Amino acid sequence: MSESPEFHPDLEKVLISSDEIQARCAALGAELTAAAGGEPLHLIVILKGAFMFVSDLVRHLPVSTTVDFMAVSSYGASTKSSGTVRIVKDLHHDIAGRRCMIVEDIVDTGLTLQYLRGYLSGHHPASLQVCSLLSKPAARKVEVEVDYTGFEVPEEFVVGYGLDFDERYRGLPYIGVLKPEAYGG
Ligand code: IMP
Ligand code: MG
Repeated sequence: MSESPEFHPDLEKVLISSDEIQARCAALGAELTAAAGGEPLHLIVILKGAFMFVSDLVRHLPVSTTVDFMAVSSYGASTKSSGTVRIVKDLHHDIAGRRCMIVEDIVDTGLTLQYLRGYLSGHHPASLQVCSLLSKPAARKVEVEVDYTGFEVPEEFVVGYGLDFDERYRGLPYIGVLKPEAYGG
């Protein structure tokens, strides 16, 4: 890994460097821009994990791109999904007839995304796609479609670049794997 930010002592390893993330955001932005074909895209960003990803991604999207936020909770202070999804903050803007893109930090079991796809489809968007920074295909409990993926990661608990463990590590500019002792494992 070529980047310099200090390697956090709670981490076992850095999985994806800051440089790799930045390059992937530019490439994803170009892909989404081409696919939108000049039509405005409405981003539905899932807080909190996706806040850093969207801030980099949106810089590579046309100025017609609009952004709304939702917050859902499915994890407590643990590394396992509870399987129960709760809306903590709902949409601010109506999405009926709009081309929408859910922006997620990570698709793990797929339960959160399955719930969100169902909930948002009920609001009748013109189209509904998903762009997730990370995907852990080996951890799926339900089949969900992810239209754009930044990186596939192994079935390990990752933190950094927006992703937390117990609200910590979100500010790291790279993605790493926590040492088991850092989450009491
Ligand atoms: P899912 O419902 O199991 O797919 O999990 C979705 C949410 O769980 C993500 O949006 C994350 O907030 C959280 N999550 C899943 N895996 C990880 C991980 O490895 N690190 C940090 N958060 C995770
Ligand atoms: Mg989280």
